[in-house]
Amino acid sequence: MPESFYVTTPIYYVNASPHLGHAYTTIAADIMARHHRQRGEQVFFLTGTDEHGEPVADAAHAQGVEPQELADRNAERFKALAPRLGASNDFFIRTTDPEHMAKVREVLAKVHANGFVYEGIYEGMYCPRCADFKAENEIDKGNRCPIHHIELVKEKEENYFFALSKFQEPLEKLYAEHPSWVAPRTRYNEALSFVKGGLRDVPLTRRHLTWGVPVPWDEEHVFYVWFDALLNYYSALSYATPGSDLTAEFWPASCHVIAKDILRFHTVYWPALLLAAGLELPRKVFVHGYLLMEGEKMSKSLGNVLDPFAAIERFGADALRFYLLRDVSFGQDGSVSTAAFEQRYESELANDYGNLASRTLAMVARYREGKLPAAAAAGTAQTLDPALAEDFAGLAERVAELIDRVELTNALDEIWQRVRRLNRYVEEQAPWQLAKDPARADDLDRVLGTLMQGLRIVTVLLHPYLPASTERLLAALDAPVLTPIEPLFPRVEAAS
Ligand code: MSP
Repeated sequence: MPESFYVTTPIYYVNASPHLGHAYTTIAADIMARHHRQRGEQVFFLTGTDEHGEPVADAAHAQGVEPQELADRNAERFKALAPRLGASNDFFIRTTDPEHMAKVREVLAKVHANGFVYEGIYEGMYCPRCADFKAENEIDKGNRCPIHHIELVKEKEENYFFALSKFQEPLEKLYAEHPSWVAPRTRYNEALSFVKGGLRDVPLTRRHLTWGVPVPWDEEHVFYVWFDALLNYYSALSYATPGSDLTAEFWPASCHVIAKDILRFHTVYWPALLLAAGLELPRKVFVHGYLLMEGEKMSKSLGNVLDPFAAIERFGADALRFYLLRDVSFGQDGSVSTAAFEQRYESELANDYGNLASRTLAMVARYREGKLPAAAAAGTAQTLDPALAEDFAGLAERVAELIDRVELTNALDEIWQRVRRLNRYVEEQAPWQLAKDPARADDLDRVLGTLMQGLRIVTVLLHPYLPASTERLLAALDAPVLTPIEPLFPRVEAAS
């Protein structure tokens, strides 16, 4: 049985259109999905939209439309973004799917039946944009939300509560026994210190809202949107493929990829909820940083948004994927800019890699009429130049190891060092000189064979990052007679 690998993105709020921050997480998860498929594993990659709750209901009412209408409109935009990014998701979940809603009711009824739900009165400060209650130490000056800078609302209502406090010990045990279940380490420490600070029960339902999943034991309530949303990771498997239930094959999830804004929900509430329902816990939550524009987190509500559709239009999806994973160390915050994007495109994609590919194919076409002798073409150990073979030894294993740790930028860097190594090899060997001397025909075969083989290795490893251009190049490398190709990354006109 091949191993299975299940990776998810957060499901995005449909209160506005997608922006580069959402694209970032989807791209990263896609790189993992594609890499694991290359390893021959059974992969399930899930993304989708979070459609219930106050952020969506409020945005709809502000625009004078029903929440469903706004949800339908924006869910379409998120759904369309995935393929434009080159994302290979196996399913796109919407929390308004009736199958999801039924599953939420089923799982939370179980949590209720297991004795982890009780009635109480909640009083506290609430941010409708976060759809989250704020503890005292989370409130900014002027009673404001530290994320959205809007004034918090004092809420008092009768709710059903989820007995989070009962999971104090089980969660401490989880953190002690599985030190890499939250990564990077700083995020693990942050989540653990939240747990250690003492868990308090949290509202599970909202009474006065209607835009949500109705509570099966009291239909006057809907579930608090976060519990509805988190369960997407579990519910999707039960109906993504009509006629079959993938839960047994893919649950528990291998990795939830999120940013740090939603850390607490995924690393505290979510495992507690699963324990309460008697379900297995995900293997890992990987928490990446923020893409910053002018030093602040990009966000719909702050209005400092960079449009991923426009970037793809100009440079192509592969270039965007590459830039985001290359320029910002995955796991940390980092600034992005059009200038840095254009610089990387030109110097790395067009020059380092694109030129290497064009040059190599052009030389084989020119000096060998598109065909290398069988031994050189096969790129066997004997034909691979020992000087270069050494620099390539263990590369695939190293890349796999880094991607297993979700160090996507470091993995890309390992590959890129080999791209640069191949360029140096071309300069060192100067095949154009060898071609002038018929006595050195074997040397030329060896050099061209080595280049072809090296190019193939880096191209296969780059495939998860650059799916479209590597497919084009692999098709060219596999042709019975090699011919020059159009540039993989053509010059892009300066933005007007
Ligand atoms: N709907 C919730 C998530 C529910 S998951 C069960 C939500 N939605 S969101 O639309 O606000 O998306 C938040 C996520 O979008 C972040 O966790 C991150 O994955 C991505 N990002 C949004 N802005 C981002 C940046 N500026 N930088 C990096 N990631 C960004 O929260």
